[in-house]
Amino acid sequence: MLLDDLGTSRILFVGGKGGVGKSTVASGIALAAAQRGRRVLLVSTDPAHNLGQLWERTIGDAPTQLFTAGAGGVTGVEIDPQRTVDRHLAAVGETMSRLLPERMRKQSLAHLELAREAPGSHEAAVLERVAEAVQLGLEDYDLAVFDTAPTGHTLRLLSLPAQLGEWATSLLENRDRSERFGAAMRGLVSARGAEGDTAKEAADRRLRQTLRLRQQRFTRVREVLTDSGVTRFVVVSIAESIPAMETVELVRGLDAIGIAVGALVINRRTPAESGTVLAERSERERVSARALVTALAGVPAVQLPLFPEELMGEAGLRVVAAALEAG
Ligand SMILES: Nc1ncnc2c1ncn2[C@@H]1O[C@H](COP(=O)(O)OP(=O)(O)OP(=O)(O)O)[C@@H](O)[C@H]1O
Ligand SMILES: [Mg+2]
Repeated sequence: MLLDDLGTSRILFVGGKGGVGKSTVASGIALAAAQRGRRVLLVSTDPAHNLGQLWERTIGDAPTQLFTAGAGGVTGVEIDPQRTVDRHLAAVGETMSRLLPERMRKQSLAHLELAREAPGSHEAAVLERVAEAVQLGLEDYDLAVFDTAPTGHTLRLLSLPAQLGEWATSLLENRDRSERFGAAMRGLVSARGAEGDTAKEAADRRLRQTLRLRQQRFTRVREVLTDSGVTRFVVVSIAESIPAMETVELVRGLDAIGIAVGALVINRRTPAESGTVLAERSERERVSARALVTALAGVPAVQLPLFPEELMGEAGLRVVAAALEAG
């Protein structure tokens, strides 16, 4: 079974091209693990969430119990980046109001409003929440399964910790430099203004502390994501040539950022014995599937059939979990 191939991994990312069955497979894996008695946190990082529809439940930004069996269970979360950005900006706005003189507040708050829609702010917010969920998963659950957005989006998200870590480091270095310069200037120019500086210095210290904490968080999440003993990526594809090529690209991208691929799921395979059209299709899929398995030599592969059932609700997802257990 796929879960056996994934061994002792504590964090799984399930990803692939749009519409190939990422959410279905992520939910199936979560359910299969819960049926084995594990406590599973299932997290959707896709802004276009569909976990709720899949489980026929309302899932939101806060953990929601989806399934329980003895000691095992599945708890679902759909990360809401807008809410995270809003929460962030509210906190920053509050700090600014406290620290800035009255006359500067209005302009600064207007700047902050612009940040709400700034490029990258949603992705940074999702990453921050992924980092939190990774930590929550490691502390309170046996396994965290992330249902991700289609390929490009997810690769960008997973390469962010390195970028943001560097960004925080360079900001810190620049601040250190300008602070040393400031201190030297104050020594040269006058002793006056020392009082004003104390408030400014306190604000600076706080800012530096915040930056350092973020830097540590990004470094930590990067360490966890690139530790193949902890984190594995489950690549989902269908056996068609374009999705297969995109899958190979995804695996290359993951390699480049140091994330281990734990398994390949070739989903929605057409049965061979179902009339000429489908038999022909099935034969084509066989060729694409073989090419994929060859391209990803060494990665355990599981094939899932095209199911006749509607794969929704607990009953539907049990079908997927059972096929994963058998595969
Ligand atoms: N093996 C299968 N047999 C039959 N139907 C399937 C199978 N796997 C997935 N589906 C169906 O295909 C559709 C897409 O699946 P799913 O939502 O899991 O894909 P996704 O990759 O998460 O999509 P998105 O990129 O939009 O998030 C759903 O209706 C799902 O029920
Ligand atoms: Mg999905």
